[in-house]
Amino acid sequence: MKTVKAIRARLFWFTGDPALQGDAAWHYVEDGMVIVKEGVLTHVGEASALLAQLAADTPIIDHRPHLLMPGFIDTHMHFPQTQVIASHGAQLLDWLNKYTFVEEQRYADPDLCKANATFLLDTLLKHGTTTAVAYGSVHPQSMEAYFSEALRRNMRMIGGKVMMDRNAPAGLLDTPQRGYDESRALIAKWHDKGRLSYAISPRFAITSTEAQLEVSGALVRENPSCYMQTHISENLKEIAFVKELFPSAKDYTDVYDSYGLLGQRSLMGHCIHLSDRERARFAETRSVAVFCPTSNLFIGSGLFDWAKTVEANVRIALATDIGGGTSYSMLQTAAEGYKVLQLQGQSWSPFSAFYAMTMGNAEALDLHDKIGSLRAGYEADFVILNARATPAMEMRMERVSDLMEELFVLITLGDDRAIAATYVAGERFEYAE
Ligand code: GUN
Ligand code: ZN
Repeated sequence: MKTVKAIRARLFWFTGDPALQGDAAWHYVEDGMVIVKEGVLTHVGEASALLAQLAADTPIIDHRPHLLMPGFIDTHMHFPQTQVIASHGAQLLDWLNKYTFVEEQRYADPDLCKANATFLLDTLLKHGTTTAVAYGSVHPQSMEAYFSEALRRNMRMIGGKVMMDRNAPAGLLDTPQRGYDESRALIAKWHDKGRLSYAISPRFAITSTEAQLEVSGALVRENPSCYMQTHISENLKEIAFVKELFPSAKDYTDVYDSYGLLGQRSLMGHCIHLSDRERARFAETRSVAVFCPTSNLFIGSGLFDWAKTVEANVRIALATDIGGGTSYSMLQTAAEGYKVLQLQGQSWSPFSAFYAMTMGNAEALDLHDKIGSLRAGYEADFVILNARATPAMEMRMERVSDLMEELFVLITLGDDRAIAATYVAGERFEYAE
């Protein structure tokens, strides 16, 4: 196999946040080219200039007139919930008990873990997602399967087994010690292997005792390059239950704060009902609020206040939250995000949405020097988008006259059908049907 290849397409990428830098934040090359060597971008620019530099035998893949942009990044999802999506008629705590905790018990079976990890990773790539942060089940074997399959595909993936030692069926409980030991062993085996990273994952305050939150804090202190992910302030009954369980905490954020779980690498799922005090504490600690629009609408949790979160200077990421979320597609996730903001009289530009899916999420993961943009030295994870992928999109595109409108068509009408190809470390992903 050739180690150098060139890919020709319309190029689109960000080098900054369009909400702060306007049109200076994004770049577009009508007839562009990227050159990839051994999984890394070596050149990004005008095809006319780069064609002159190519050796005569360099393969050129021509994706024109499609759009090439950095691969999508999904910052919160659940590996064991591929068969929970579309579970009817329950809000968070009932949904967890009735569907999720029943399904996750199946992940004691390593064969099921392997089959479903294969499905998950192929499905993410089919939807243009090249990096994701996932929760496993409580079983270490779920993460063994997830990381093995990610390594086999040479993907940049993040994840961790959930720790939970109360308020769930016996088959899903570990203990503080077991949660610590199993997480530690997984970190030793998988963190920083290939392009993999570990996320220490106390599921949420309701399913972890104080002793387990304590060991979670110890894991975070002992492994500062790992991520920490949990859920917070998603649903009003959840918040009331946390208040009962932790009567002396100032609020939900204070529960995690008092165990040392906030910080630059802390991914806090949902953040719908935070107070001003909590947002201020997020900003001080650089913790990331993860916005999961399809899930928040589907489980009926509420509307994430983007404007207030930005105003409070809190870092924000965007995510599917499969399987409370209803789509693997970051395009569809952005479409629902747009509607969540519309319902609050806020407007989200297509540029801000695409920034969130790529460079913004890379920033939230502290990976913006490796992924999320197109630049020499960056990992060659990218997606090829076709804004005319369906008859409805083709019809609408007849009235489109600029890039902003094309991006909005992709978000509003696009899904996996709009993904013409996905490249992982420079290799085109082939979906085995
Ligand atoms: N809170 C705790 N666990 C979960 C989960 O699996 N999904 C969602 N949406 N919220 C949670
Ligand atoms: Zn979640």
